Amino acid sequence: MARVVQDPKAHPEAILGDFKTPNPLVTFRPEDVAFTYGTKWKQRYWKKQGNDYYVLPAQWDVQNKVWRPYHVQPNTDWWVAHYPEAQEERPTGPLCDGCHSVNYDVKTHSVTEWNVGCERCHGAGAAHAARPSRGNIVNPARLDHVRANDVCIQCHSQGRPKANPIEGQYYDWAVGYQPGDRLNATWALEEHTLGATTFTHWPDGSAHKNRMQGNEYVASRMYAKGVRCAACHDSHGSSHEGLLRFPGNEMCLQCHAPRQQAGPGVTPEAHSHHSAGSPGNQCAACHMPRNASTIATVNVRSHAFGFVSPAMTDKYGIPNPCTSCHKDKSTRWALDALESWADVSPWRMTPR
Ligand code: HEC
Ligand code: HEC
Ligand code: HEC
Ligand code: HEC
Ligand code: HEC
Ligand code: HEC
Ligand code: HEC
Repeated sequence: MARVVQDPKAHPEAILGDFKTPNPLVTFRPEDVAFTYGTKWKQRYWKKQGNDYYVLPAQWDVQNKVWRPYHVQPNTDWWVAHYPEAQEERPTGPLCDGCHSVNYDVKTHSVTEWNVGCERCHGAGAAHAARPSRGNIVNPARLDHVRANDVCIQCHSQGRPKANPIEGQYYDWAVGYQPGDRLNATWALEEHTLGATTFTHWPDGSAHKNRMQGNEYVASRMYAKGVRCAACHDSHGSSHEGLLRFPGNEMCLQCHAPRQQAGPGVTPEAHSHHSAGSPGNQCAACHMPRNASTIATVNVRSHAFGFVSPAMTDKYGIPNPCTSCHKDKSTRWALDALESWADVSPWRMTPR
């Protein structure tokens, strides 16, 4: 999380997009770029204008290595209705920078640091730096689980400030929130009506687009039981994919080993009906399907921690993990297989 925003003048290697091959989408040069945004899924480019920035009209799809247009369309993000059509009239201060910096000041448009610095999760740190003690810093580990998860959800969610518009401006981030607060005092998660497919949600309420981890997770059993984002992720850094504390199934088996109460009560192979080492034996493959679009065909994982039955695909169009992986098979085939698994209840595989 520490390298999302970079200044290409200081870090020329930060630019991932191909500026050498002419492309009609790319109407700007590397010299025009004040900041690059993103390294993993997509990279967008900031241009400075007065004491604000705006996003240049082409973005780099990091995984497919192609340029794609960048212009947020009507009926997508809620804020589009409150902003002019022209890209240069959509400043990044109210729309982006609050989540990609520390202490973004809505009056001066200044930041103390770009990216996700310590104070975004630990609160103001000056007093603590001067005289380090437990009492003058927020440690999310000592907050209740609602407040601890709110530290992450302030950025990892789709929503809007309850106070919008704030001095005439519509913000897309939780203005005024500080770690230790209840986020819900200032921030409303994007609403959804069950059954509707929207820009942000699938009909069952799971994530249709990226940056919905908070929206989904708060509705899960694990959240209700007090499991935190930080139980699985080490936001200070980790050598495992996705900043996980343990790789792959080892992460889940910390609490879901056969003898543990949280289930499923048997070995992963017996539960998944796939052999050890098969991609079909990965907990995340079935319980965290890649259903949330981040750019074009690149999707991120669901954090609803349910199971989307193939019958839900037939009825609501939500992709199910079985035929997303077994691409040549039908939902009927997958349902037949599930019905042949003695430990899976056929009642629960029918659409709700
Ligand atoms: C993205 C959020 C986030 C950022 C940024 C962050 N921390 Fe943390 N930090 C946490 C969480 C969450 C915990 C509690 C972990 C837990 O629940 O076990 C924590 C715990 C700690 C602890 C307690 C001891 C420990 O390791 O568990 C220290 C010390 C600490 N952080 C220092 C820092 C410093 C210094 C920075 C900046 C360089 C920083 N943190 C940046 C989220 C963050
Ligand atoms: C200030 C905003 C902010 C806060 C607070 C924050 N994040 Fe993030 N997080 C980001 C951004 C931006 C990225 C994208 C990083 C990138 O592209 O390299 C990210 C990425 C991640 C990733 C994916 C990393 C990867 O390589 O796939 C995880 C996991 C994550 N955050 C977990 C957490 C957890 C857990 C917390 C709370 C302890 C937290 N974040 C708090 C902004 C935030
Ligand atoms: C509410 C907080 C929030 C706001 C507002 C926000 N972002 Fe992000 N952004 C994040 C988080 C968290 C991530 C990483 C997790 C994810 O995408 O699921 C991220 C990821 C990204 C990435 C991808 C990073 C990578 O490595 O691929 C880019 C690019 C980006 N944001 C640009 C923007 C732009 C442009 C805007 C404004 C139009 C914006 N963000 C507004 C929180 C935010
Ligand atoms: C820190 C402990 C912990 C870890 C780590 C953990 N879980 Fe859980 N999980 C729980 C608890 C507690 C429950 C709730 C059990 C209950 O309500 O009886 C749960 C419930 C679930 C459920 C049932 C959800 C529902 O709505 O019925 C699924 C699926 C699940 N976990 C998947 C996973 C996966 C996949 C991983 C690894 C990525 C994982 N868990 C890691 C503790 C954990
Ligand atoms: C091949 C797909 C698949 C894989 C892989 C998979 N599961 Fe499941 N899991 C299911 C299905 C199907 C259900 C039943 C869902 C229902 O009844 O709604 C289920 C139910 C669960 C439940 C809720 C029921 C219970 O017993 O409490 C938990 C918890 C769970 N799985 C955890 C895991 C963990 C942990 C892993 C990895 C070790 C894993 N699953 C791997 C398909 C899978
Ligand atoms: C039970 C464990 C667990 C919990 C709790 C959990 N995550 Fe994750 N998260 C994962 C796993 C597993 C991945 C997939 C890593 C990979 O790609 O291999 C992941 C991926 C991510 C990513 C990267 C995007 C992607 O899908 O590749 C982000 C960002 C993220 N989590 C944020 C969060 C936030 C924020 C919370 C709390 C609101 C949270 N996670 C709670 C297990 C968890
Ligand atoms: C991430 C990929 C992946 C997912 C998700 C997955 N599988 Fe599989 N599946 C495989 C692979 C690979 C094999 C080949 C044998 C092995 O590795 O165990 C397989 C084998 C099978 C087989 C036996 C061989 C055959 O083709 O007849 C059945 C039946 C099956 N899967 C059903 C399912 C069902 C039902 C689901 C959803 C609950 C599911 N799979 C989810 C990858 C996956």
